[in-house]
Amino acid sequence: MNADTLKRAAAARALTLVEDGMKLGLGTGSTAKHFVSLLGDRVRGGLDVIAVPTSEATRAQAQAEGIRLATLDEFPELDLTVDGADELNDALDLVKGGGGALLREKIVAAASRRMIVIADGSKRVARLGRFPLPIEVAPFGLEATRRAVARAIAVAGASGELRLRSATDNAPYVTDGGHFILDAHLGTIEAPDALAAALATVPGVVEHGLFLGLATGAVLATEDGLVTLGDV
Ligand code: A5P
Repeated sequence: MNADTLKRAAAARALTLVEDGMKLGLGTGSTAKHFVSLLGDRVRGGLDVIAVPTSEATRAQAQAEGIRLATLDEFPELDLTVDGADELNDALDLVKGGGGALLREKIVAAASRRMIVIADGSKRVARLGRFPLPIEVAPFGLEATRRAVARAIAVAGASGELRLRSATDNAPYVTDGGHFILDAHLGTIEAPDALAAALATVPGVVEHGLFLGLATGAVLATEDGLVTLGDV
């Protein structure tokens, strides 16, 4: 099975959690895209849900699928968010933001009673950090923020290169919120809580991709079948 088939299988399992009348958060990325596509099928079959997208890309896809959309201001409390992840461990701590949507993803996840991660099995790790940690920063004062982020990473006992994410045209990648992303190539994150706390003290940091204590469950699709973690 290729990765795409596995991602769709995980998305299909998460779809079984969706009930009529639910207020949903829709994630971003190639795995969440499968969920939105399968949800669209159900909506066209009569399922009545309302959804808040976590990116402009997901908004466009969900709109094309005919899914009724709302803002988080209209519905500040959601029943269920389904989203992908770049890495997750068995404690359901995540690294997210490979697709650049971490800020809205984290706001939406935090506003949801349940957050279910969908992924192919390759995303499951013993320790976070192999995937570069996305750190969303304000463009203003970028160099000062970069230095402060490097100090915060050192304070948390980690180290590694910080790279400004580029768009395809070599200009800095710009998020839906108009910010830049520094990708921290840490290799391993021994103390995710300490790192999250340290990054939160840096004024130019808008958000970071450590999602700690937000996911309530996960569906992982492997060659041997579906594996669930937490409350699914
Ligand atoms: C988007 O910003 C990310 O958090 C994605 O959810 C994450 O990168 C997983 O993406 P894939 O499902 O494409 O691997």
